[in-house]
This record gives sequence, C-alpha cells and structure tokens, in this order.
Amino acid sequence: MNTNKIAKLSLFPLTAGVSDQGHLCIGGCDAVDLAKEYGTPLYVFDEFTIRSKCREFRAEFCKRYPDTVVAYACKAFLNRALAVILKQENVGLDVVSGGELSIAHSVEFPLGEVYFHGNNKTPEELNLASGWGIGRIVVDNFYELELLDRLAKERRISQDILLRITPGVDPHTHRYTTTGTLDSKFGFPLATGQAEEAVKQAMSGGNLNLLGLDFHLGSLIFETKPYELAMELVLRFGQEMKGKFGFQLSELDIGGGFAIPYTLELEVPSVADYAEAITGKLNSLISLSELGYPRLVIEPGRAIVGQAGVALYTTGAIKDIPGTRKYLCVDGGMSDNIRPALYGARYEALVANKALEAEETVVTLAGKLCESADLLIRDVNIAPVRPGDIIAMPVCGAYCIPMSSNYNVLPKPAIAMVQNGEARLIRRRESYQDLMRLDLL
Ligand code: LLP
Repeated sequence: MNTNKIAKLSLFPLTAGVSDQGHLCIGGCDAVDLAKEYGTPLYVFDEFTIRSKCREFRAEFCKRYPDTVVAYACKAFLNRALAVILKQENVGLDVVSGGELSIAHSVEFPLGEVYFHGNNKTPEELNLASGWGIGRIVVDNFYELELLDRLAKERRISQDILLRITPGVDPHTHRYTTTGTLDSKFGFPLATGQAEEAVKQAMSGGNLNLLGLDFHLGSLIFETKPYELAMELVLRFGQEMKGKFGFQLSELDIGGGFAIPYTLELEVPSVADYAEAITGKLNSLISLSELGYPRLVIEPGRAIVGQAGVALYTTGAIKDIPGTRKYLCVDGGMSDNIRPALYGARYEALVANKALEAEETVVTLAGKLCESADLLIRDVNIAPVRPGDIIAMPVCGAYCIPMSSNYNVLPKPAIAMVQNGEARLIRRRESYQDLMRLDLL
C-alpha cells in the first residue's frame, strides 16, 4: 500500500474510499462507473460532505455565539439542486446577482435569509431583490446608497440594509482575492472618512433601515488574525457612529474567506479554530464597548462546497519530452477550471482506476484548450497512466464550475450528486446544440 496515495484521500470528500478493485469511490459510488455512465469531464458532488460542512459551521459558531447566521456564498457554486439542499440545511445565502437570486427564488428559498452583495448592482437587480422581499441589501458605495433610497421610495418600502466597510486590513492572500484593503473597488473605506459619511447618509435616507455593518477581507485566508483586527476596527467605528449619530449595530457581517487545504502540505485552521478566534474576539470587544451583542453573520463559500466536489477527466494524448517534461492531456482544462491559470492555484490528482497503485510517475496535467497556460497541475506524482485512464482532481467544488466558460466552444461538463451509493445528474452536459441555441443567423 502506498501511504502517500492514501493520504491524498483526505483531500477528497468525507465519504471517499477505495474499492477492492482499486477504484476511487465517492458517496458509495465507483468514480470509474460514474465517468462511464455520465461521460467526462464530470464534476461529482458529495451530498454528505456539503451537509456536514453546513452543520459544522452552524454548530461551531452557534455554540460559542448563539446569534450567528451562516449565509452560504453562492458564488462558490450554485445550482437549483444545491439550493434545495441549502434550504433544508437552514443556512442563509449571500448572492451577488439577479441570476443567483433567481435560482434561490425558483426553489422557494426563504428570501428573508438572503444577503445581496456586489459593487454594481443594477436598478433591475435591486428592484427584483426588494420586490421579492430579500433580507438585506449590503450597500457598497454612494451611488447605490442614493439609488436604493430612491427605488425604495418609489416602491413605498423601507429597505433593510448593511453597509460594506473597507477596514484596510490585508488578509495575506492572492492579490486577486484581496478585497478589504484601501485600494479596492469594494466598500466604503474607513480610512478616508467615507464610511462615516455613508452611515450619516444611510441614517438620513428616509427609505433605508440601516441594521449594521459588513466587511469581507478576501478569500482563502489562512490566518484568523485579520478577522480579529478587522472586527476591532469596525466595532470601534460602530461605537463612534453610535456616539455621533445614534447608530445601533444590530448586525455584524464578517464575510467569508475561510481556507481549506488543496494540497497535503497546506496547514489550515479548522472551522472550530476560526469560530473560536472570531467569536472570542467579538465577545471580548462587545463586553468592553457600549454596543449590544449584534447578530453575527458569516459567509463561507469555498469551505462549504470545495472539498465536496471532484473533477473527473479521461486521459488522452501523452507527450513525453525526454529529459524535459511529460504532458498528460485530459478532456477538460481551463474552460472548467480556470484557477491554476488565473491564480496559480495548486491541486492534487489521483488515477481513479488505479487508486492503489504506487505513484511513481511525475506528469504535468494539461487541458485540451489552445493555450499554453492551460495546465491543470504542474509536476504531480501519479500512478503510471495510459490513454483512457480516469483522473480525479479533489477540492474542485468551489469556483470551478461557476467560473467555467465555453472557450474553444467546449460544452460545459455534467454535474452529478452522489449519496449512499446513488448518483443523480444535477446538471446535464451541454450539447453542441445547446452551444448554438442562442446564436441568430
Ligand atoms: N462574501 C463575500 C462578500 C465575497 O465576496 C466572497 C467571495 C465570499 C463571501 C466567500 O468567500 P469564500 O468563503 O468562498 O472564500 N474566484 C476566487 C475566489 C473569489 C471569491 C470572491 N468572493 C477563487 O477561485 O479562489
């Protein structure tokens, strides 16, 4: 038995195992059979892992700070079947578009539990959201503050809002996923006085009901300190605003960004570690202030669905350049997973039909798109491969499918949900007809 290969299993969904035949199994289903039945590239989601992560976040935060709302960040991945599961798990949602909101609406998701984010929500999106009775609109800038006040006036409603504050805290993650520093397109900066001006305006806007403050520092944050520092700054600001304008902080939304391991060497805080640091800091800050205990809102995306998703590919061409590199080409690539090309993201891989074989070969896993940047993993150790083998890439549940494209006019992959030995398609593979359906001659 190859222990490194068994170690890799810990990156896969919680139900992952290896059959006697040496095949990777997820949710009691043989991954090789899934690839045969639905074709590849195939994204497989494990329902048990998704539900477990929702429960873990709720349990770890609520036992330390009972008034916590877990609002799943839909941008990590959303489709109708997932929205039904999230509804059953009693989590709220963070949406960023009329599209995400419409998916939630289509499954009768309780929209009072939905937070609407975004730095340039359109009037149509805002009207759709308030017309459907969305819980909170997280106002991002002065343009939106005025627009929303006007739209709410026209509709004769009072819209519950939070203000997104840019605290100026660096979470030490990729610069493309850093959002809480001063030079960001998101939020009202604390440092410039614009956050104060926003509170003043929001409180004088006749049709807005300012319930609290929000920040989101970035994504894939491996430390707890940035959250603590940002809470300190934002709560101090809340206290000041109470003194100046009588502002009441009823809600504090600290965004998402909780990290998960993509590769074995990455050390990541557990959900309990994040919960302990965040709620501990919040409790101590509140006890020292004149603020009451606000509702705490957290918005995990990646940490709910990342580990639950596995990408399956079929291998084709193998190009071995002696002394240089061995390229192993698969039938998907940057069209279904842009993360390696965009962020230099690192993944692991396992040959799903040879899960018990020694991983003695080093290959570079290449996609099939016409771009040299289309490499899924540089230099990964896997079992010896032949064309037709099935490659499984773990931790593909977040930000792969939602950021996928039809580049090179490739159809988007099918998505299957597995549980207790049963699999069902939750999105069928696109056909060439689908790809031409919207074209007009
Ligand atoms: N809340 C807000 C306001 C956000 O903007 C985001 C992510 C989240 C919550 C959820 O963050 P998470 O818990 O998933 O880290 N495409 C990038 C990630 C971009 C994240 C954008 N905002 C990637 O593939 O790494």
